[in-house]
Amino acid sequence: MLTRVYRIAVDNIDENAVRECCEIILRGGIVVFPTETVYGLGASASNGEAVKRVFIAKNRPMDNPLIVHISNKKQLYEVAEEVPEKIARAIDVLWPGPFTVLLRKGPRVAQEVTANLPTVAVRMPAHPVALRLISCAGPIAAPSANISGRPSPTTGFHAMVDMFGRVDAIIDSGETLYGVESTIVDATSKPMKLLRPGAMPVEKIVEVLGEEIIISPEARGYMESEKALAPGMKYRHYSPETPLILVEYRGDAEEMVEEVIRLAEEARRTGKKVAIIASSETIHRYKGFADEILTYGSRKNVFEIARNLFRILRELDREGVDIAIVEGVEEKGLGLAVMNRLRKASARTAKDGHS
Ligand code: TXA
Ligand code: MG
Repeated sequence: MLTRVYRIAVDNIDENAVRECCEIILRGGIVVFPTETVYGLGASASNGEAVKRVFIAKNRPMDNPLIVHISNKKQLYEVAEEVPEKIARAIDVLWPGPFTVLLRKGPRVAQEVTANLPTVAVRMPAHPVALRLISCAGPIAAPSANISGRPSPTTGFHAMVDMFGRVDAIIDSGETLYGVESTIVDATSKPMKLLRPGAMPVEKIVEVLGEEIIISPEARGYMESEKALAPGMKYRHYSPETPLILVEYRGDAEEMVEEVIRLAEEARRTGKKVAIIASSETIHRYKGFADEILTYGSRKNVFEIARNLFRILRELDREGVDIAIVEGVEEKGLGLAVMNRLRKASARTAKDGHS
């Protein structure tokens, strides 16, 4: 398939380019576009055939629903039914931004978007290019623009690596702001439930809602397969090709460092080439213990760690190592999203990909 590439600067938006991409979507095409979290692969949310092409391009199972992206509050009432008063007030504060809310689905959203579920996930992205595109094309259904199971693209280049030749157009607006996906909350359950931690801290959402949100072990990234039967879990997420071992941070950096070194030495004894992914505070401790040492940034700045995470996971596969060991972070603020992604990336029982 012929893929057109548009470079659109965030601070100097080429309106003609946006209009061309909008027309592609209105004609039933699929377009990669930037958001403040990660790049998305969009189709018109009311066009079932176009939405099917998104699943095919990503190699994503059809039973995994997509998020609908909107650009104004009026569109929320077109795609969702019964918006609780509390949610209506909360989104005035949280939107545009990396907060996705699960509501009852309205009739104008194609069944393919929600995998026939009665609910729809909705968000208003805080990215000027995304907002312009949606204003022109109407609500856009979009998953992250990666091949299923791979880390989400945080640069136009990563989106091209995965999607060139598979989509009608790619908008490259450089690096995204957060580098992890939006936070998803199910507002149809009582009490509300966290479905996926992300770029908006749950603490912040709880504060704005004035209500508790249940955080299950699954939302922390512990896999269902740890309880389930032999065939392993249904989906694989965010995984690099290189096997990844996560060493959790339990409040004692020294203990964590020693565990990383122990695992690295063990792997090397069996002849494996080892990479260590560490924070800038502890990186000097690993000299001589690994073949490659990468850093995801400072422990004091979890925003930076989140932002670097998917890029590091992609880079890892180019290092030519047999195994990687990664340091965990504290599960606070964006740290919850980082740990969710790392736990999933390091779950090696996986059989199939999707996210
Ligand atoms: O930041 C983001 O959320 C990015 C950008 C592009 O907006 N999008 C994104 O989409 O991460 P995706 O498809 O990679 O992840 C969406 C998640 C999936 O895990 C999906 O299962 C869940 O949202 N989801 C969507 N609709 C749902 C529904 N009706 N019920 C339950 N889960 C739903
Ligand atoms: Mg995804």
